[in-house]
Amino acid sequence: MRVGIIKYMGKGIKYKHVIDILENYYSKGLKVLEIGAGSARYRNIFDENDYIASDIFSPYIEDHDEIDAYFDSENIPFEDSTFDIVFCVGVLFVLNNANKSLSEVSRVLKSGGKFICIDYSKHIQRKLQKKDKSSSYNIKHYVYNDKDLISIFNNNNFKIVFLDISRYLVINSRWKGMLLNLLKYNGVGRRILNKFGVWRVAVGEKR
Ligand SMILES: C[S@@+](CC[C@H](N)C(=O)[O-])C[C@H]1O[C@@H](n2cnc3c(N)ncnc32)[C@H](O)[C@@H]1O
Repeated sequence: MRVGIIKYMGKGIKYKHVIDILENYYSKGLKVLEIGAGSARYRNIFDENDYIASDIFSPYIEDHDEIDAYFDSENIPFEDSTFDIVFCVGVLFVLNNANKSLSEVSRVLKSGGKFICIDYSKHIQRKLQKKDKSSSYNIKHYVYNDKDLISIFNNNNFKIVFLDISRYLVINSRWKGMLLNLLKYNGVGRRILNKFGVWRVAVGEKR
């Protein structure tokens, strides 16, 4: 089942929790930059004048037509305070220098702008990291716990306004949703979610 989940990732699926969170923060007219967009599968959430899909130029890009700008997130070619929202999905844990990338994200965001970082949970990050040596892809995976993530956000002038590790598990059942909400507010529950949850979502507001 778990292997199934890992195989499932990155195959053009639009995840409901990702759509929900993007729709929650976006409204027409806000300028949005996606980092590491891949096939830019969430493009249609945004007005075409508001959204830029970016990625680093690499042999792994499946559809170059979907990418509006190529650059390394360590060096973002936009002026200071250009965007209201910068987001990425499943990207932070493949960045070689997440701290440098977040300093760039912070620079190009307006004050009060949001960085929406939708990433895999620690246990999935660890699983993917274990496969690095045997993988034919030249990609290194990093593992972040909540503390690491919070400190990278803080170091780069972000106040965390949302941190959730249960989204993927909240299925269409009110009872399961309530149970998961109870779990995430206590230490043991959070450890369980960290072990079995697939996603971690963090939103930082630029100070
Ligand atoms: C796991 S894929 C996720 C792709 C896409 N966001 C999705 O949800 O399908 C990670 C993406 O991060 C990009 N990436 C890796 N390092 C990067 C960097 N330094 N700057 C910008 N993008 C980077 C990769 O090219 C790849 O598209």
